[in-house]
Amino acid sequence: MNIGILTGGGDCPGLNAVIRAVVKRGLQLGHEFTGIKEGWRGLLDQKTVKLARGSVSGLLPLGGTILGTSRTNPFKNEKDAEKLLRNIDELKLDALVCIGGDDTLSVASKLHDRGIKTVGVPKTIDNDLSGTDFTFGFDTAVSIVTWALDRLHSTTEAHQRVMVVEVMGRHAGWIAVYGGLAGGADVILIPEQPFDVDEVCGYIKKRREAGKYFSLVVAAEGAYPKEAPGMITKEKELDAFGHVRLGGVGEFLAGEIEKRLNVESRFVVLGHLQRGGTPTAYDRVLATRFGLKAIEMLDAGVFGRMVALQGNKIVDVSLHEATSKLKTVDLEMLRTAQIFFG
Ligand code: F6P
Repeated sequence: MNIGILTGGGDCPGLNAVIRAVVKRGLQLGHEFTGIKEGWRGLLDQKTVKLARGSVSGLLPLGGTILGTSRTNPFKNEKDAEKLLRNIDELKLDALVCIGGDDTLSVASKLHDRGIKTVGVPKTIDNDLSGTDFTFGFDTAVSIVTWALDRLHSTTEAHQRVMVVEVMGRHAGWIAVYGGLAGGADVILIPEQPFDVDEVCGYIKKRREAGKYFSLVVAAEGAYPKEAPGMITKEKELDAFGHVRLGGVGEFLAGEIEKRLNVESRFVVLGHLQRGGTPTAYDRVLATRFGLKAIEMLDAGVFGRMVALQGNKIVDVSLHEATSKLKTVDLEMLRTAQIFFG
């Protein structure tokens, strides 16, 4: 088969490791590969590159994606959707490996409904895709948050300040909970549970009364206060998949804490640092296992499915199931984190 491979949505450490595994194993199985550049936009514009064995060597530790990416939604209008189908035909692509988050994979699911042989690989630092325990990229993001908290600890303590650390994750608090737990945060705020600013101040006060004059607060970018429901956004404009750009909760909270407690407060937005650079060993292995499963599924004639991690097994779930609902942090995980608040 001539297999097209693309990466869509925000980039994520481990994308290149998936491409490498798919192509290396696929060549062994007798397939050929067409790399589609810049996600769905590249398929609309027929921007492709042939991928041979040489094109995928040395990729395992490389961050970003050799194919480039975009947030283009070809199903935003029917004309583009038809163009996409025409191009798949013109480029003689027999099947597609789509590496992406819920947006990219929802397109893969729709293409499958229209008769295209697709397989999805779950990518996102947010870890918010259903059907899989973990997505690759998440472990790297959590490691970077942990590293940052370790560093912020000493400077925050030295100045007896409150440091609010804003992390990514969109509508899910996975990065905040895992990163916060690993980095010993004193309060962790996630979108799944709107916060009360006075309660946050209460934790900080309690620590000060116990002789701990500094506090680290981790806030997911999607976390928001009970008194003003609705996520804090950078701008009102929506992207092609209808998402707003989140950001600002760290600044908001640092300001409120300083005002209400009269304690010097600062905020740090970790932003795209969480997505850049080399994947951790865990993500390299997960991405490799996902890539191998994806190509073996295509080879065996299994389509319309997403590879997934359940327990320690690599399995497959329907693309439709994986993209119909976001996987948010469960209350049990939140309770574990809350034990260490204050
Ligand atoms: O979905 C991954 C993610 O990194 C989110 O955590 C974040 O909200 C968003 O992408 C940022 O997108 P952009 O790269 O377009 O700024």
